[in-house]
Amino acid sequence: MKIAIILGTRPEIIKMSPIIRECERRGLDHYILHTGQHYSFEMDSVFFEELNLPTARYNLDVGSSTHGRQTATMLAGIEDILMRDVPDVVLVQGDTNTVLAGALAASKLHIRLGHVEAGLRSFDRMMPEETNRVIADHISDYLFAPTKTSRQYLLDEGIHDERIFVTGNTIVDAVYQNLEIAKEKVDVLERLGLSEGGYFLATAHRAENVDDPVKLGGILNGFRLVYEEFGMPVVFPAHPRTVKMISEFGFDVPSGTRMIEPLGYPEFLQLEGDARCVLTDSGGLQEEACILGVRCVTLRDNTERPETVDVGANVLVGCDSERIIEGVRKMVECRDDWGDLYGDGTASERIINIIG
Ligand code: UD1
Ligand code: UDP
Repeated sequence: MKIAIILGTRPEIIKMSPIIRECERRGLDHYILHTGQHYSFEMDSVFFEELNLPTARYNLDVGSSTHGRQTATMLAGIEDILMRDVPDVVLVQGDTNTVLAGALAASKLHIRLGHVEAGLRSFDRMMPEETNRVIADHISDYLFAPTKTSRQYLLDEGIHDERIFVTGNTIVDAVYQNLEIAKEKVDVLERLGLSEGGYFLATAHRAENVDDPVKLGGILNGFRLVYEEFGMPVVFPAHPRTVKMISEFGFDVPSGTRMIEPLGYPEFLQLEGDARCVLTDSGGLQEEACILGVRCVTLRDNTERPETVDVGANVLVGCDSERIIEGVRKMVECRDDWGDLYGDGTASERIINIIG
């Protein structure tokens, strides 16, 4: 059996890494097809280096563009490769344009398609990711749902039960596999002059947030209020999209907010695990913070990770600065253990067992 693993962005590299490792461990015939949606060193190569991943057999280098052009370029490139280097199964992960293109290409060629992290729904069609994930789910042969909630969403949409497998999320595997390595190899707190529990960690990159001056302004103002009230820095490893928009809108980064370059995975995990709490609009961070026992304040009004809110690990506050500071007041106090909400770290093993 030959497996093609299609990926293109930071979270896909991280969440596919345990599956790639599992293929290597079992000596399975597999290859990586990178679309090049992310290409800056700190959004791409750093993860291949640090996570010891093999170089992608193919890289389409599509880069950034409008949604249609980017997806179309990927679709044409992926189709060419899948016709030449024909796999038995294609795996895609998550909800990016790379996933949409990979899923369409495989489906049109009648190659069996597996969607890792299936069944997530924000029910917000303004998010490009919601369209991508809905389409990918409906054309997949194997839907690897992380939780029972995701499985139920899929059933509610008429997807057949026998195509759905609740496996947990491979992010748990990635966290477990890299946390120990992180402890041995990096000391990001010392490097940045921070103390355990003595800072907040923030990220923001959702298009509907950072491309809107009112929302981005609200987020930055929220960070300012957090620093003023708690006297602890807000460490902000900023996504390139966000850096670009801060500059385009002519915003100043408030004092107390330490905007830094994006970090590699071991350093980022360490920073996340020792933060007082996390402020973010990232999907992956809502899960990771919960796995690490750190509370999360989500800079959105909806989430496709409702399990985190249900257990009290996460609160939704949107982008209004007053709601952000209220959310932080509520979440700042203590760490907790929310158990195996997203699985026990064996999702990648289960996924390969199912397609094998
Ligand atoms: C994409 C995904 C999003 C995911 C995120 C992970 C889609 C529609 N969006 O959003 O779901 O959460 O990745 O981080 O697929 N840029 C660089 N270097 C890079 C990549 C991007 O400078 O390596 C800048 C460019 O200015 C680019 C902008 O970031 O125009 C946005 O990149 P893009 O890949 O279109 O979307 P993301 O916001 O990264
Ligand atoms: N991440 C990282 N360095 C950073 C910021 C994030 O390694 O500076 C990791 C983080 O640990 C998580 C993933 O990137 O696993 C989340 O990616 P992102 O927020 O870009 O995308 P999303 O999860 O929202 O799709």
